[in-house]
Amino acid sequence: MAARPNPIDMAKYVSARRALDYVQDGMRIGLGTGSTAAWMVRALGEMVRQDGLKVTGVPTSSRTAELARQCGVPVATLEDAKWLDLTIDGADEFDTDLSLVKGGGGALLQEKIVATASDMMVVITDASKQVDHLGAFPLPVEVIPFGWQTTKALIEESLIGMDVAGRSVTLRLNRDAPFRTDEGNLILDLHLRRIGNPRQLSLVLNQIPGVVENGLFLDICDVVVVGASDGTVEVRDINTGTVTHETVDIREDDNLFVDIAD
Ligand code: A5P
Repeated sequence: MAARPNPIDMAKYVSARRALDYVQDGMRIGLGTGSTAAWMVRALGEMVRQDGLKVTGVPTSSRTAELARQCGVPVATLEDAKWLDLTIDGADEFDTDLSLVKGGGGALLQEKIVATASDMMVVITDASKQVDHLGAFPLPVEVIPFGWQTTKALIEESLIGMDVAGRSVTLRLNRDAPFRTDEGNLILDLHLRRIGNPRQLSLVLNQIPGVVENGLFLDICDVVVVGASDGTVEVRDINTGTVTHETVDIREDDNLFVDIAD
């Protein structure tokens, strides 16, 4: 047994736990990537092992696939599952329209494909990710390695005409080497500070040769569950237009205190 999670992890855990209320027996579920999604995968594993829940998980990264297997969540590829009932994932930023910036963990391509192939996307997060305007978090853009410097220059050029507050573009590194995605691609981080027109920016970026996908998730997210360290959550549903406040029931015998490596 490990110590009780710190307040940040507790907020992530309660949002994950509440999001799992959307799960039903037999569902095919997209499993997000990141520290918040990892709490969800662990809690889902508990439901599979302890309650006999039958689900199929489609991971959005090799990291999540490994964690899901460790936790006992049956895993399938999107090719096998074809269409999903639900995806639960974290985010780097969300606004009042439930538009998102994702890709801080470098998994945005699989995350966007999986979320788009789902009837419903639930984002699990804490209040620190909420913004009035997207863009404070650098926008990740996945590019193929071939000619990436030319792609970077084209992105920089296209940003000149965009409604953004910053225009620097940096290659993401993993220590001293370029960060590689699961597909072997590179990530360019766009330091925009404020994105005035996310829809236009997303369209322009995805038209540039060499760009595979960008981290703007627009009209994809249905529900955001905002967790707090006191065990409460705010649930925002874009389809019903409702915002509810709830307390998540955390049993002291919950295995959330058990250490499972990321
Ligand atoms: C992974 O590529 C990202 O999209 C994550 O979903 C995002 O970075 C949130 O991660 P955390 O839950 O670790 O903040």
